[in-house]
Amino acid sequence: MKRIGILLSGRGSNFLAIAKAIAEGKLRGAEIAVVISNRAAAPGLAAARELGLTAVAIEANGRKRAEHDAEIIATLQQHEVDLVCLAGYMRLISAKFVAEFRNRILNIHPSLLPSFPGLDAQRQALEGGVKVSGCTVHFVDEELDHGCIILQRVVPVLDADDEHTLAERILEQEHTAYTDAIARVLSGEYEFRGQRYVLRG
Ligand code: GAR
Repeated sequence: MKRIGILLSGRGSNFLAIAKAIAEGKLRGAEIAVVISNRAAAPGLAAARELGLTAVAIEANGRKRAEHDAEIIATLQQHEVDLVCLAGYMRLISAKFVAEFRNRILNIHPSLLPSFPGLDAQRQALEGGVKVSGCTVHFVDEELDHGCIILQRVVPVLDADDEHTLAERILEQEHTAYTDAIARVLSGEYEFRGQRYVLRG
């Protein structure tokens, strides 16, 4: 069994989509070992508890990143996590964290990276005037919203869009993209070629 650790800060809809996929047998051989949030009040954490999952709040409040991350790393290790999935985790993670779980941390971001990393990606896309946007699932390295890309989904940007309608269209894609990316990574049938993640064979 591959054990997934989820990190989230808010609503948790991507986490719930992964949990649903597992419940429906779409991610065979995977289970969620622990859900961790840097915000005790995150709705995603309450949702995890309702599903009977282990849900842990590790508040950041004023602590140094290294110290906060050390507690998260220890919690992930204690739950014998194989793969860490950032699912709306709105906090930079330290180089130490990346090194501890090298090539075992994934993130989802609501833009076609490397365009529009950081906060308010959908607003950045509208302000940039692009005609397509989407979402990206990628391995996490030391830079923000950066690392080898596993897959991307494209959606049109419509003339009538505002941040919310665009975010909603992207989110619908996020909910299947993350599960597909996890399945690919857990299959192990890939290799890295420089910055590229490519399927083997
Ligand atoms: C998602 O749109 C995710 O792509 C984004 O936060 C939202 C979380 O929603 N993540 C980032 O912007 C990371 N830089 P959720 O809590 O409902 O999954």
